[in-house]
Amino acid sequence: MNLAERVEEIFNARFHRQPMLVRSPGRVNLIGEHTDYNLGFVLPAAIDKAMYFAIAPRTDQVCHAVAVDMKEEYTFAIDNLQKTSAGWPNYLMGVVDQLMKAHYSLQGFDCVFGGDIPIGAGLSSSAALEAGLAFACNRMFQLKIDPLALVKAAQKAENEFVGLQCGIMDQYINIFGQPEQALRIDCRSLEFTYYPFHHPRVAIVLFNSCVSHSLASSEYNRRREECTEGVAMIKQLFPYIASLRDVSSEMLKECQSKMTPVIYRRCKYVVEENSRVLKACAALEKNDLTSFGVLMHQSHEGLSRDYEVSCTELDFLHSLVEHNPHVYGSRMMGGGFGGCTINLIDHEAIEATQRTVTEHYKRKFHIDLKTYITSIGAGTTLMHGQ
Ligand code: GLA
Repeated sequence: MNLAERVEEIFNARFHRQPMLVRSPGRVNLIGEHTDYNLGFVLPAAIDKAMYFAIAPRTDQVCHAVAVDMKEEYTFAIDNLQKTSAGWPNYLMGVVDQLMKAHYSLQGFDCVFGGDIPIGAGLSSSAALEAGLAFACNRMFQLKIDPLALVKAAQKAENEFVGLQCGIMDQYINIFGQPEQALRIDCRSLEFTYYPFHHPRVAIVLFNSCVSHSLASSEYNRRREECTEGVAMIKQLFPYIASLRDVSSEMLKECQSKMTPVIYRRCKYVVEENSRVLKACAALEKNDLTSFGVLMHQSHEGLSRDYEVSCTELDFLHSLVEHNPHVYGSRMMGGGFGGCTINLIDHEAIEATQRTVTEHYKRKFHIDLKTYITSIGAGTTLMHGQ
């Protein structure tokens, strides 16, 4: 029995009726880290790992949610949403909260969800929960919300209810992902372009450090503030700029003396990363994975040295493959302070690379590395039901 069938069977046993089934994927980000909330460019893709929702409406205001993988249940009322220390229910309640605030006509629902997106690995299991539920409610209650508005509601759920000031990338790719396509999102105009990513001899391999340092969310919000501070300083010389997206390396250099070294390095990273995304897209158009990979390595260096969101474990994983001729590129991925590195590796070298990396990582940190060989899949879809 596959994961979707299992989730559906648990729903049937628990709620005794036929649910709608929705698949909501995790994501990778090929390049463009911490650029989304600076209104720059990102290049994510939806993956083959996903969360499955079996869900059906109720006639009252109550929501029963069952988290299969955590073996937990939570009940809440759509007209009385209170943040909980239980963690995952906040993502669901956050979405309901947004839909209620936008005056959509909702009822309660019964819902069972579970899947194979590892939690805390930086593959956006939280966005899969938010955007998956937003998509399901849209269908189930026929709300006629357009896809971009769904994305925004899911992001706001995380900003306002969960309290992480995340950008729009994760929820966006969750809804707009397509098989074998990376998606370049312009996070200022919110326009997007698909870039075919089909390289039969190369695989996207994720090495999960299996650490997730507790400072991740506080440091994330702090980086946002530091960037805002940087923008305020740059504005003194260039009043017309609205975000780091509008800043060039030359402009930044002119402002360096007005900034603390830390703020300067944060801004420098973002400005350079934005230009790397554009170069990476140009490389993809030419099928040039070698140049693409070099940009990934540079992205890691910047994240580690200038933006300071990496950690010893991720730096070590990167250093192990950095000079491996079978690895085109490697970098830490997502918010940072743990989770996975993303690596582009020749198929024939995957096994040997995985073995070496696993051994070295174990020896140094006494942690069993996890490896996922992923492929690029579809964004959130209705599997059956309404
Ligand atoms: C998290 C956030 C995204 C993005 C990345 C860093 O995944 O949810 O919005 O900022 O970190 O690129």
